[in-house]
Amino acid sequence: MTDSLVRAPETDRTHATPEQYAERYARSLSDNDAFWLEEARRLDWVTAPSKAGNWSYDPVDIRWYDDGVLNLCHNALDRHLDARGEKVALHFEPDDPESEARTLTYRELHREVVRIANALKAIGVKKGDRVTIYMPMIPEGTAAMLACARIGAIHSVVFGGFSPEALAGRIADCESRFVITADGGLRGGKPVPLKDNVDAALERPGAGVEAVLVVRHTGCEVNWTEGRDFWLADKANDADCPCEEMKAEDPLFILYTSGSTGKPKGVLHTTGGYGVWAALTFHYVFDVRPEDIFWCTADIGWITGHSYVAYGPLLNGASQVIFEGVPNYPDAGRFWDVVDKYGVSIFYTAPTAIRALMREGDGPVTSRDRSSLRLLGTVGEPINPEAWRWYHEVVGSGRCPIVDTWWQTETGGIMITTLPGAHDMKPGAAGKALFGVEPVLVDGEGKLLEGAAEGNLCMARSWPGQARTVYGDHQRFVDTYFSTFPGRYFSGDGCRRDEDGYHWITGRVDDVINVSGHRMGTAEVESALVLHPTVAEAAVVGYPHDIKGQGIYCFVTLVAGEEPDDALERELKAQVRSEIGPIATPDLIHFTPALPKTRSGKIMRRILRKIAENDYDSLGDTSTLADPGVVDALIAGRRNR
Ligand code: PRX
Repeated sequence: MTDSLVRAPETDRTHATPEQYAERYARSLSDNDAFWLEEARRLDWVTAPSKAGNWSYDPVDIRWYDDGVLNLCHNALDRHLDARGEKVALHFEPDDPESEARTLTYRELHREVVRIANALKAIGVKKGDRVTIYMPMIPEGTAAMLACARIGAIHSVVFGGFSPEALAGRIADCESRFVITADGGLRGGKPVPLKDNVDAALERPGAGVEAVLVVRHTGCEVNWTEGRDFWLADKANDADCPCEEMKAEDPLFILYTSGSTGKPKGVLHTTGGYGVWAALTFHYVFDVRPEDIFWCTADIGWITGHSYVAYGPLLNGASQVIFEGVPNYPDAGRFWDVVDKYGVSIFYTAPTAIRALMREGDGPVTSRDRSSLRLLGTVGEPINPEAWRWYHEVVGSGRCPIVDTWWQTETGGIMITTLPGAHDMKPGAAGKALFGVEPVLVDGEGKLLEGAAEGNLCMARSWPGQARTVYGDHQRFVDTYFSTFPGRYFSGDGCRRDEDGYHWITGRVDDVINVSGHRMGTAEVESALVLHPTVAEAAVVGYPHDIKGQGIYCFVTLVAGEEPDDALERELKAQVRSEIGPIATPDLIHFTPALPKTRSGKIMRRILRKIAENDYDSLGDTSTLADPGVVDALIAGRRNR
């Protein structure tokens, strides 16, 4: 039974009772402005806002706390110094468990941030400039983000696993003239050549920058461009560095994410609304108490690392662990070693990690103590009930509630979840809306679906953490999120709402696939494939994958005269890796003489998806195909998993 209730233990019912949730939720909608003005008091403001929401979905113009002035770095650090300057802000756990761990108190992290902020000023960064951060998961990564926020620069963090090509595209798109990186990183004992990648990226057209600040981390050899490259240590200094006064709607960061068409979009978040949303969601969802040790395993290159590593925990004055490595190095018990080492009480990770560890059996978990854990969370993709139960029963020893949090880069923070204490859990369901969030389901024509139903997941109203635009392309923002169902924000996800009002996310309904919790545009992978001279055409779809959630299945037709072989298959995979990065590596390449197309030449992806899923009985109507025979040939050539 997948939707049986799992009750939260009574001892955890201290944070928000079911009644408190219902009351607060109702008021958050009925008295929206007052609710959000009250919640804004979670932050210190230079000028408190007089009004909360000021938004419209038609035309699309989203503003929150318009006349407020604040600085988020002040809120994350400076304001804590008097009361909790000596409290731990970050426990840094390096990739190699034998290497030296580092702990930074709020005072120490503040000092680090000021030093980096001064270095940024020294290389010429000014308010409003874009700064690309391409870093391993080390304290300087978070500190660099906060340093940008401190001086009013807009950070654009690019995941350290992205290729030079992908990095170059992101630098060029937002015309970033500054990069912060490290000499190298380490993941699972393997070096990641970050500085080399930056060097390679900066050779690409459109990606020239003025200055690169380099953090000495692994001590590896690096090439140096005099006049452009600077060691952070040579530019950093302890001079006073006041926080820049920012308007609530001043941009805070850009984060690139994949969509169903074109190149990745630079999703833009602004200062006041995002800050309130990150602070509030962290507080309620993770039920945080002063003594908690929080650990979110996400990289700062993703939105989860923005909201629940860099901003949420620090805005709340919480202590957290940041981890450079991977779950299975040196062995499959590493997560739980780290939990025991720091006494982690709240643990937040992705279903793909849970599934990968589940495959290693219970031993690596049960051989560790884990008694400090009291709350578990998941994010990034639907969690299958089997993995949910393993997480609950084995990792959490049946004691810890699980929050299955649904949200997106564009939502800035958690939108749908159960709240520990307030809601019982259903394995596989994200749960209910957070305060101020009004999810609705609509059918293909945009008709509102009431009660228990399945449809397209939209939001009927704005919330402070909502993205404001796509950097440099507002029309793309409008077209992507507000044109399919006018007057509503469309998430791109399908969802079933059950009779208890719980939301079960069914996955993307657009041409986006979710690989290990990472969003991948099929169009991006296709573009990378067709760059190869032998490829005439490519169509990429997702298929169910035991560990990754979805795998990448590529249908490829070759130009006349080319013959497929293993070497070509390897070359095509390498091509995608170098264009995007290892996370986009195709799982399966299916060479086919033709793709199923309508008479007007449109590729019928629905059929390709079914073939990739081995679901031949429900191929649907194939009569509109220009050549129905193509389907039989595709089935005959189906690649085995
Ligand atoms: O399909 C949903 C899935 O991840 C997408 C958002 O991806 P991204 O912007 O990269 O952000 C991931 C981290 C917030 C969504 O459209 N998704 C995210 N969380 C869940 C989920 N699907 C099901 N259950 C979740 N808890």
